[in-house]
Amino acid sequence: MTRKRKAEPSTGPGSSRREFLSRSLAAGAGAAVLGAGGAGRADATPDPPAAPPESVRLTLRVNGRPRTFDADTRTSLLDALRENLGLTGTKKGCDQGACGACTVLVDGRRTLSCLTVAGMYTGREITTIEGLAAGDRLHPVQQAFAEHDGFQCGFCTSGQIMSAVGLLSENPRVPDAEIPELMSGNLCRCAAYPNIVAAIADARGR
Ligand code: FES
Ligand code: FES
Repeated sequence: MTRKRKAEPSTGPGSSRREFLSRSLAAGAGAAVLGAGGAGRADATPDPPAAPPESVRLTLRVNGRPRTFDADTRTSLLDALRENLGLTGTKKGCDQGACGACTVLVDGRRTLSCLTVAGMYTGREITTIEGLAAGDRLHPVQQAFAEHDGFQCGFCTSGQIMSAVGLLSENPRVPDAEIPELMSGNLCRCAAYPNIVAAIADARGR
């Protein structure tokens, strides 16, 4: 008598093999899909950069007269002076507030123009090195720097002079001993410090 073979239960070895193969194929297909998707993302064209802010029209009062120009809203006061207004006497050294080469006066106060946004200064009085002399007559601090050789290469000099003018305005009787500390934000790579201090001390009385 032939015994009928019992049907394999769904959990039997044959079924497990089929299930494993099915799962493997499904997983492989999924991985392929994911792989294709991932590659697609990697090759995708990156989003275009955000549109730059629109330029704005600014009017700054510089060296006693209004100057109007168009500039990116992020333009620093230093770049506005040098690039937009052509006042290149103000120097760009570190461009991060560490050297003092970019010092100008805003309402008579020493200001690092590289750290400030030009648009913040509408309606303020900005003075640069170009605005110190009265015609052919040098400002007393300029004159003192010339007489005391308060420079070598000259790169830091406009910032030193503007800072000295601001210092003597803040404290017209500043003691000699305090000058180096109060000028410490202005670096001089030529190390002309003794002559710079002597010039400021001399200009103090003029
Ligand atoms: S350029 Fe502004 S502090 Fe150096
Ligand atoms: S004179 Fe050269 S950096 Fe000061």
